[in-house]
Amino acid sequence: MPTPRTIAIDGPAGAGKSTIGALVAERLGYLFLDTGAMYRAVAHAAMRRGVDPDDADALGRLAREVRIAIGPPTVRDGRAYTVLLDGEDVTWAIRSGDIDRVVPQVARVPAVRDAMVEQQRALAGNGRVVMVGRDIGTVVLPDAERKVFLTASAAERARRRGDELAARGEVRPRQELLHEILRRDEIDSERVVSPLRPAEDAVVVQTDWLSVGQALDKVLRVIARPAA
Ligand code: CDP
Repeated sequence: MPTPRTIAIDGPAGAGKSTIGALVAERLGYLFLDTGAMYRAVAHAAMRRGVDPDDADALGRLAREVRIAIGPPTVRDGRAYTVLLDGEDVTWAIRSGDIDRVVPQVARVPAVRDAMVEQQRALAGNGRVVMVGRDIGTVVLPDAERKVFLTASAAERARRRGDELAARGEVRPRQELLHEILRRDEIDSERVVSPLRPAEDAVVVQTDWLSVGQALDKVLRVIARPAA
């Protein structure tokens, strides 16, 4: 059976898209593209340059100006990929709590999305790609051959985010993380352009009680299944 050539994985913050997406890509020998990293890089550039997160025009211009490159890891420090912003390695900088808070505001600006979606489609042009984000199955690659919507309860997602930050030495109260996740879900789900929602033909995978290995198996089974 031929393997699908483009796989879209969407879902809310902390559902495990990046972890599972990277593993699926590795297993299939496909390119992995975490589109969240691109929005994070634009948010980082905006903070650096003092661009007001409410200034949609300035954010749109910035998104067209910056050069974002995502490629294989250049340092062996646990990263799944390296993110370059105008040539500078921002892989870890874009994972900070400050960026978590600003990024949904930046990502809801239509001109920012247009600039990112154009680049994402170009990167998927040759196929053999696993792309993860919020709107991949609905907007970026509506013809993707397999679509997975990965999700988990907010409490579980806050727990995972807490563990992830703790592993990097940043200890944050669980309640605070839960609050942030709920706020981000709300902004991502209620924005007018490309809101977070499963595509009609996506398979929803609930991961609350699953280990990474179990979630991976489940997603690989969905991918291997003949398309409906
Ligand atoms: O890793 P986590 O799921 O927490 O977030 P992410 O995937 O890195 O995405 C960060 C933010 O970028 C999201 O909260 C969205 O606001 C935005 N985003 C988006 O709007 N569309 C995408 N395709 C990917 C991310």
